[in-house]
Amino acid sequence: MHKLSKDFLWGGAVSATQSEGAYLEGGKGLSIFDIMTKGERNTPRRNTGTVQEGEIYPNHYGIDFYHRYPEDVKLLKELGIRAFRTSISWARIFPTGFEEQPNEEGLRFYDQLFDTLLENGIEPVVTMLHSDVPLELAQKLGGWKNKEMVRYFARYVEVIVSHYKAKVKKWITINEINAVNYVLWFSCAMLDDDEKSKALAASHLLLASATAVKIGHGIDPDALIGGMVTDCYSYPYTCNPDDVLQSVEDVRTNIYFADVMCRGYYPSYQKMKLKRAGICLDLTEDDEKILREGTIDFLGFSYYSSHVSSVVKDELVEGNLLQNIVGKKNPYLEASQWGWQIDPKGLRYSLNEFYDRYQKPLFIVENGLGAKDEIDENGKINDLYRIEYLREHIRAVEDAVCIDGVELMGYLVWGIIDVISGTTGEMSKRYGLIYVDQDDEGNGMLERRKKASFDWYKKVIASDGEDLED
Ligand code: BG6
Repeated sequence: MHKLSKDFLWGGAVSATQSEGAYLEGGKGLSIFDIMTKGERNTPRRNTGTVQEGEIYPNHYGIDFYHRYPEDVKLLKELGIRAFRTSISWARIFPTGFEEQPNEEGLRFYDQLFDTLLENGIEPVVTMLHSDVPLELAQKLGGWKNKEMVRYFARYVEVIVSHYKAKVKKWITINEINAVNYVLWFSCAMLDDDEKSKALAASHLLLASATAVKIGHGIDPDALIGGMVTDCYSYPYTCNPDDVLQSVEDVRTNIYFADVMCRGYYPSYQKMKLKRAGICLDLTEDDEKILREGTIDFLGFSYYSSHVSSVVKDELVEGNLLQNIVGKKNPYLEASQWGWQIDPKGLRYSLNEFYDRYQKPLFIVENGLGAKDEIDENGKINDLYRIEYLREHIRAVEDAVCIDGVELMGYLVWGIIDVISGTTGEMSKRYGLIYVDQDDEGNGMLERRKKASFDWYKKVIASDGEDLED
């Protein structure tokens, strides 16, 4: 049994686009999510280019957090969380992305949200960009392969950090910045699938992140500004040296983003890879200076499952982003209803690897289980499977901190309130400790209800992580 310190940030996370809804209210413009239809496990979401009649666009309504956040924050206070991660919707502040002046109504919304959190003793942890680039900006510039995106992002960052500097002290620049190779539209706001466009988009996202850190520190030297990746590590499938080298390669494909953000320059293996592919980045000496000066204060990461690398590409598993491409099925692990393999010990492994590599504070900013929940005849949601998942992951976190000495700022449950799924747009893929009455087609009363995991997590937090029993 371990106990974590009083300042450990137990909390929960959502994103603007998956929770707020109100997609055209308060002067907001369309974002790249607003033209993505609902999908399901084996049916990807479709990009319809414009909003079309007769289609379901789940991000238009989210869980109506835009109107219901006061009630939600009350529940979060009762839960006892110390930190709440959400993002600012860029298109609420700059509706098309091209405006010279910010939309005051958009700024006011987040003022009210952050004030409400602070009044309730909850620290906001704010992601500057959780995928939802303004649609017009994305379509006119062609997404992140165009370096101009960095300039517009910088203007947006300058506005939000200046405006919220008294309220927000922990920022995350770009959500899962290393997802570039896997979900093009959501991570790069473009559809071009060629290697050169993807490499350029990645380099512009990294430049944008470093620019944001520099701007942020310039405006508020007290702010901690972190970067964020989706978990990068991979086990070799066998001790065949070819599998081991394949895992080195797979890790590098995903981790070079964290290398650049933490160290301030491109690792030699990535430079060589680009050279071999005949790809030349358009970074100037000034840009390289920005990368050096804009290193992050902490590394945030999301963790849902582990990955397995092999030279034999059969039996691939489903999963959050990376597994779709590189992951071989791990015969030692069970999987969720969406096929994501469950591996709490892999979280301890990743925490150790990240910390050894960078010696910077880490922050688990997303972890959780997507599952279908049933309401029983007494109106209760007995989500013991979610408690089990969270308990084992928290055990791994505590082992990493208390036995291995990893410096960890906090642990945030993803989708602490049920939200729209990012990859499928479903509502029935629920992560929350708070249930939201809404189905996959957007029907429901939106009423909030505590699940069994709510009471369990409340006890965990109140005991500083010592009491993990049901
Ligand atoms: C992360 C994203 O990739 O995984 C979240 O940052 C997303 O936005 C989460 O919701 C879980 O994925 P999904 O597809 O199950 O919602």
